[in-house]
Amino acid sequence: MDIPRRRFDTLIIGAGGGGLRAALQLSRADAHVAVVSKVFPTRSHTVAAQGGVNAALANVRPDDWHWHMFDTVKGSDYLGDQDAIEYMCRAAPRAVYELEHFGVPFSRQDDGRIYQRQFGGQSMHFGGEQAARTCAAADRTGHAILHSLYQQNIRARTHFFDEYFAVDLLHATDGQVLGALVLDIATGELLIIESKTTLLATGGAGQIFRTNTNALINTGDGMGMALRAGVPLQDMEFVQFHPTGIAGKGMLLSEGARGEGGYLINSEGERFMERYAPNARDLASRDVVSRAIVTEIREGRGCGPGRDHVLLQMHHLDAELIKKRLPAIRDSALTFAGVDMCDAPVPVFPTAHYTMGGIPTNRFGQVVAPIEQGPEEAIPGLYAAGECACVSVHGGNRLGGNSLLDIIVFGRAAGNQIIEFLGENRYHQPLHDQALAPVLQRLARWEQQGEGESVDAMRSELTRTMEEHCGVFRTEELLKEGVDKVLSLEQRMKDIRLRDKSRVFNTARIEALELENLMDVAVATIMSAWKRRESRGAHSRIDFPERDDVNWLRHSLYHRHDRTIDYKPVRTKPLTVDSFPPKPRTY
Ligand code: FUM
Repeated sequence: MDIPRRRFDTLIIGAGGGGLRAALQLSRADAHVAVVSKVFPTRSHTVAAQGGVNAALANVRPDDWHWHMFDTVKGSDYLGDQDAIEYMCRAAPRAVYELEHFGVPFSRQDDGRIYQRQFGGQSMHFGGEQAARTCAAADRTGHAILHSLYQQNIRARTHFFDEYFAVDLLHATDGQVLGALVLDIATGELLIIESKTTLLATGGAGQIFRTNTNALINTGDGMGMALRAGVPLQDMEFVQFHPTGIAGKGMLLSEGARGEGGYLINSEGERFMERYAPNARDLASRDVVSRAIVTEIREGRGCGPGRDHVLLQMHHLDAELIKKRLPAIRDSALTFAGVDMCDAPVPVFPTAHYTMGGIPTNRFGQVVAPIEQGPEEAIPGLYAAGECACVSVHGGNRLGGNSLLDIIVFGRAAGNQIIEFLGENRYHQPLHDQALAPVLQRLARWEQQGEGESVDAMRSELTRTMEEHCGVFRTEELLKEGVDKVLSLEQRMKDIRLRDKSRVFNTARIEALELENLMDVAVATIMSAWKRRESRGAHSRIDFPERDDVNWLRHSLYHRHDRTIDYKPVRTKPLTVDSFPPKPRTY
């Protein structure tokens, strides 16, 4: 097969904030950079981030990056790697000012400084009073960041392949990654992109759950590619359920709503968070708030005819404040719940939001994994940043506002590391035809026509199964049953064929390839959850309700080829400060 080839110094797969921040670093250093995105770049999921980005700027209340670091370690339920967390929290103020200089229109205080709102899990003085650390552009912060980064990349002459789907990584026999095979969605034509370095920045995999806040495109493509290339996925059992999804629909109502003074009530009109988190109340960490909501409902204090949700109350606040600070979520509540939050409370329920686990990387963005059962090492030429990666700064539970921070800090760090690599590796390694064979074989299967189940029906069954068996509360029985169901779906998937090819759009091919990624990520998630016999962060086992630091203060690594899970230590030693040792986690 004669497939055209293009050559770049760096191939970046994914045009969200992580990919674009890395691309900008590289293009400004005169590297020849290609960004491949399956949607037009400014439609990447970063655009949907609402509440803001954390940095200890101390514009509203006193703050300090050490407090931010403490909150992040505690929020992670001590599973976060403290070297990476220190790096991120120290870098945050500079990273935010850099965004400001790129043109991000942050909301302002009266004195002209960047506006910062309160978010969950934030404290002053290592666990004291509530902090206000989240820098916001109203409730469209991700939108503002993504558009600014895209414009800066255009100016820096980054090359974009818009609406191209990355099928798989291409590598040499020694494991060095040499680019990827991509597919032009409009024409169906294949293209080989050869690169000296490849960065995966494909975002999360919220679409493995039926109800989620994620864009339809968040199908774990980078994670699937990594798994197929023999890289294990780390800590996949840790999935964040955002407490305030619109009930029954899942769309996000930003934590900013509670940060601006909103609160949750049950069917008895009670502010129930006071019982679960006496100090932080509605601004406890997300895992705590989500569990509290589900507990209220299980104990019969849910609202509505089905008693299946609680209410987010905002209408005690000044309507002008809601309109100024939270215009987009007011719109969402109007559109999807038919409620104007200036007048009435909105029905909410936890919704899958964020993948804490992902492709294991160090703080320089290098993918670090055991190669062929050997010791862990950096895979030559391969990098990852953003939600598809696991650095790990979020550990068992991410704090709101730390995801936008993660992508800009580690996107930049990966860019810098790649620049260093390019300085020492000036020539392309040869990409031989045999590197293509497994990828073409994978694609060929979707070219065989036939009958059978539809991709769409399979995707629905998978996402329903994950929702039922791998949600906020988990048990051995529920998880084991879920594992069996997902594995049997995976078997059935082998028989799916696209019907009558002459009438199939390329998008149907893409959906089939996405389903393969979703399936791989779902298996990794539910198997890792089944094996972790403790409760930590967002992984909450009714049958093992306590955190168990003796046996489980470790990262999991799921390997696709033999479906095994092994474990590696948490890096508890920060770079320059003292460690935060595990303590009981209360809010
Ligand atoms: O609630 C929110 O605005 C979400 C922010 C985040 O996930 O960081």
